[in-house]
Amino acid sequence: MRRVEIYPSILSADFSRLGSEITDAERAGADGIHVDVMDGHFVPNLTIGPLVVRSIRPVSSLPYWAHLMITDPLRFAKDFRNAGVDGLTIHPETGTDLVSAVERIRGLGGGVGLALRPETPIDVLDPVIGMLDRILVLTVHPGFGGQTILKDVIGKIRRLRDRLEPLAKRPLIEVDGGIDPETTGSVIRAGADVLIAGQAVFGCPDRGKAVRMLRKAVERALSGPGPETH
Ligand code: DX5
Ligand code: ZN
Repeated sequence: MRRVEIYPSILSADFSRLGSEITDAERAGADGIHVDVMDGHFVPNLTIGPLVVRSIRPVSSLPYWAHLMITDPLRFAKDFRNAGVDGLTIHPETGTDLVSAVERIRGLGGGVGLALRPETPIDVLDPVIGMLDRILVLTVHPGFGGQTILKDVIGKIRRLRDRLEPLAKRPLIEVDGGIDPETTGSVIRAGADVLIAGQAVFGCPDRGKAVRMLRKAVERALSGPGPETH
């Protein structure tokens, strides 16, 4: 059976006790931690910087991936790596030259990902598609947790999966935004490998149960009837 990873997004965690929220997610069976970095410019919200990442790094041995929703990702990429993130995901919509940006992030030694806003077509990935570890498909408009999934993006996940299938070393597809036990089926059937979930994990007092429900939804999708057409 296909292996699907679950990355809780700490955007929905209780920031007054971020460390224990992360260990809670780890005990619940998370595969990694998703760290949303926002600059109030690329997206209309502000979150955390390298200082906070450095302080939460020692609390868990899970991989941490930073989703950099910031206008100048290359300015801060090294700081986030030094703070201890295992991978960095940047947005092509920042206008940065993709080949050199991906090479520079690769040069920092960790994983490299690209994230696409809902309206960004997958063709923008073409120049770098074979150089990536992960591709994050935003299933909501970035900036806030707890939004409803945009169903139109499901077709894009499927097209991306088809595009990636022939590659010798295929980047993993992450889905981010409005992922919960209800919506998991459609994104998994469309080809997602990694579920990023904020509200569905940290909004539930029992994180173990929250992760189990996501895994059950994955199992149902993988054992159910063929692919969805929408
Ligand atoms: C949205 C962020 C997401 C967010 C998802 O801009 O990139 O990672 O935390 O939150 P939920 O799962 O609550 O939609
Ligand atoms: Zn995110």
